[in-house]
Amino acid sequence: MSQEIPYKIYLSESEMPTAWYNLRADMKNKPAPLLNPGTGKPMGFDDLRGVFCDELVRQELDNDTPYIEIPDEIRSFYKMYRPSPLVRAYCLEKKLGTPAKIYYKFEGNNTSGSHKLNSAIAQAHYAKQQGLTGVTTETGAGQWGTALSMACAYLGLDCKVYMVKCSYEQKPFRREVMRTYGASVTPSPSNTTNVGRKILEKDPNTTGSLGCAISEAVEAATTTPGYRYVLGSVLNQVLLHQSVIGLEAKAALDKYGVKPDIIIGCAGGGSNLGGLIAPFMGQKLRGEADYRIIAVEPASCPSFTRGKFAYDFCDTGMVCPLAKMYTLGSGFIPSANHAGGLRYHGMSSTLSQLYHDGLMEARAVEQTSVFEAAEYFARVEGILPAPESSHAIRAAIDEALKCKETGEEKTILFGLTGTGYFDLYAYEAFNNGTMTDTIPTDEQLAASLATLPQIG
Ligand SMILES: Cc1ncc(COP(=O)(O)O)c(C=O)c1O
Repeated sequence: MSQEIPYKIYLSESEMPTAWYNLRADMKNKPAPLLNPGTGKPMGFDDLRGVFCDELVRQELDNDTPYIEIPDEIRSFYKMYRPSPLVRAYCLEKKLGTPAKIYYKFEGNNTSGSHKLNSAIAQAHYAKQQGLTGVTTETGAGQWGTALSMACAYLGLDCKVYMVKCSYEQKPFRREVMRTYGASVTPSPSNTTNVGRKILEKDPNTTGSLGCAISEAVEAATTTPGYRYVLGSVLNQVLLHQSVIGLEAKAALDKYGVKPDIIIGCAGGGSNLGGLIAPFMGQKLRGEADYRIIAVEPASCPSFTRGKFAYDFCDTGMVCPLAKMYTLGSGFIPSANHAGGLRYHGMSSTLSQLYHDGLMEARAVEQTSVFEAAEYFARVEGILPAPESSHAIRAAIDEALKCKETGEEKTILFGLTGTGYFDLYAYEAFNNGTMTDTIPTDEQLAASLATLPQIG
């Protein structure tokens, strides 16, 4: 075992990124524009500014500027919990007996427990800068809501969170962290919005989905003066903010002359993966280097691997713009999988375009095999991983085991997006042997995909 590379590679404050990297600037095939669901026309600044903060709309629509400076207030906040460690998984390598070299970028070192804080503070900053009084949002697993409530508390903004009902019930502790930071938390679907009431009328026992919660949060933002809606994933602006993960990881690896062969991340709406791969994919797009990039999603919500690349609504209530993405249909409600943050019917349009163009791969994994990997990892590396992050661990272990068979010394980098301290009901189900794998049938998917809007 070479000790030249430390267990943890940190960057100094002066080595931290001063600008986010906008991957779209290097894409030949740009992600398709958001469309107005009423007119079917691409949405511009004026169409979007009623929902999102002005500066975030500019970032959303900017397909050309490669680097966007990180404002001082955000950089100062980042310094409270970043740079996040890049860990060489020596213990995991040894236990697996693999010749592969495994690195992971750990984003769970802040109180909110995940990478979501990287975009939450950016979005809250721009809302405050615009003189708004508050923001609304949805949250699945609760990490995004927690992160946003932390950022809003720091900047003195109100924060209303619609939390997917099954997570609200499964994760009462996350709810209380959000309330402690001053956010109001409503289980979704709820009867506090028109769209929520409609969804409940159709299916009073629904466990909810991110798509439902988004519809409610958008309605609440557009009907409350001084508020805008913010989103924790999927959008281009969120991938932009999350590029800080990849920029730091690349700078740390470059310090030791390490180039990964395989880069792996879990994919819910695509923000951590889009952020982690950003500078590497940039090199790939510019023809400077090549990497194998793997998105890992749950078999219960397989948007990349079994979805369709088409325009669809970003939400269940069909009030949001249409995005061209890999989707399972906006009405698709996945089984109550424990990786709440990966239960989204669609995928970032940037990642969807890259996948469509063959620049990355995707695979779907089953819940119990994900928890087997999580348990294995926790026992050797010490960190209790979030169920979402454990999807990436599953794939990283599988790739490392392939290296063991072939004897190849590949370098694997994966994103460890968060901790699993608030996911102990999931671990309990796994430990008790009551965890199940629910995979949608072809018929269920076909029925959901049949409702895709017809765009010319
Ligand atoms: C810990 C963690 N990892 C990953 C995700 C997936 O989101 P994304 O694909 O936007 O990174 C979530 C979403 O809530 C999460 O909480």
